[in-house]
Amino acid sequence: MLLTAEMFLTRHLKPNEMHVCPFALPFSNTVRLEDQFRKVHIPDVMIEGSTADFSMVAGDFLEVYEDQQEEWNAIVTCYFIDTAKNIVRYIELIHALLRTGGVWVNTGPLLYHFEGHAKEPSIELSVEEIRLLCKRVGLEIEHEQFGESTYAQNMHSMHQTVYRTWSFRARKVAVNVQ
Ligand SMILES: C[S@@+](CC[C@H](N)C(=O)[O-])C[C@H]1O[C@@H](n2cnc3c(N)ncnc32)[C@H](O)[C@@H]1O
Repeated sequence: MLLTAEMFLTRHLKPNEMHVCPFALPFSNTVRLEDQFRKVHIPDVMIEGSTADFSMVAGDFLEVYEDQQEEWNAIVTCYFIDTAKNIVRYIELIHALLRTGGVWVNTGPLLYHFEGHAKEPSIELSVEEIRLLCKRVGLEIEHEQFGESTYAQNMHSMHQTVYRTWSFRARKVAVNVQ
């Protein structure tokens, strides 16, 4: 996954210059072979030329970013927070990385990756528990909504998964020091 992403992001590809066949390997639930082997052209969205300061970092979120306290104005997490073994640590780090007034925008389900793993301890908080945790660490949820979303799947397959996603924007609020 990282090698592929590295190639897409650093090879200065022209729009739609390459293609991949992301649905070629699963054979179940196929209606037409052309659905299974269809090409997806990449890159469909060009990052080059954008004024955004873009970087890709490989590693454990909790380790890679721990030295960047209060360096970020915004953090976006998409289908990510449920990858945590301990979501409390993710949220505490997101809070620490943001400057006061900075925002955390999140979307995704809570399909905890380590739930039920016998050898991996895992904390699976509910939406209402995450709301409380955010408040406790100093992240004020300003807006939230539930929606429906698929994730990286073959829309022509006979098997479709739709997640009920929770999206919110939380802001790091100033703490009153007595
Ligand atoms: C469901 S994918 C979402 C990827 C992307 N945000 C998207 O929306 O397509 C979860 C991602 O989190 C990454 N991930 C899992 N655990 C991680 C960790 N501890 N630190 C950093 N990344 C992690 C996985 O490698 C994977 O790329």
